[in-house]
Amino acid sequence: MRRFEGLSAIVTGAASGIGLAIAKRLGSEGARLVIADLNQDAIDEALEAVRQAGAPDAAGAVCDVADEAAVQTAVHTALVRFGAVNVIVNNAGLMTFKALQDFDHGDWLKVLAVDVMGAAHFTRQGLLHMPCGGAIVNIASVHAVMTTPNVAPYAAAKAALLSLTRSTAIEGKARGIRANAVLPGAIDTPMLWSNPNLKSGAEKLDPRDIGKPEHIAAAVAFLASADAAFITGAALPVDGGRLAQL
Ligand SMILES: NC(=O)c1ccc[n+]([C@@H]2O[C@H](COP(=O)([O-])OP(=O)(O)OC[C@H]3O[C@@H](n4cnc5c(N)ncnc54)[C@H](O)[C@@H]3O)[C@@H](O)[C@H]2O)c1
Repeated sequence: MRRFEGLSAIVTGAASGIGLAIAKRLGSEGARLVIADLNQDAIDEALEAVRQAGAPDAAGAVCDVADEAAVQTAVHTALVRFGAVNVIVNNAGLMTFKALQDFDHGDWLKVLAVDVMGAAHFTRQGLLHMPCGGAIVNIASVHAVMTTPNVAPYAAAKAALLSLTRSTAIEGKARGIRANAVLPGAIDTPMLWSNPNLKSGAEKLDPRDIGKPEHIAAAVAFLASADAAFITGAALPVDGGRLAQL
């Protein structure tokens, strides 16, 4: 399948984990890519990986998604190099861990700035610049609808991201721009294993409930492609069934 032949995509947080798997999958299906992440060396490694996966072209953008000017620059990079931005995947995310009473104002803003405002900045640029047929996919989490102790800002941010997805679907419709969200369950990436709840044993995971980044990438590729032309405003759990279980 080469569903993104002739199209270009920006993937945020694409130097690691789920973002890298998404970029490789879109590239393997013909997308020209902008890898947006924080660190140039990590971006360079990801660029090599996506080219090896078959991406016809790939550029890097050092971009803190919380910084609106940096987001504008990343989108400009894609427009100049590829002539258009057809797909945006808002994947960059930050998860912090504290008891609710210990999160102060700055702690909240730090998470909201990346997990909600990062996607909002890219959505703004997408609505300003994407052509008809454009697709935005937001990487939320099962924490958007159910959660665990000690991750309140993250859970709130991911819930807000579902709301942003609906607003984007509604307001993008007249312009032919779709927006959908994917809700990953536990996925085997550095972020999963940095979770102190897992490290301490307070939260236990059945190994059968741990998915691969490629599982998320497959769902994102579907939602970003013309195969999902009549799907917008949707929130798709990709969690091995965890949300379905009482
Ligand atoms: N791994 C899981 O179990 C899991 C579950 C549900 C949702 N998610 C979501 O999937 C997404 C990717 O997570 P992952 O597990 O691959 O994490 P990861 O830590 O492996 O990768 C995250 C990437 O995002 C980048 N990043 C972080 N802050 C950024 C910023 N401000 N600007 C630009 N880039 C930034 C990091 O540098 C890193 O490359 C996140 O939104 C996360 O919330 C992950």
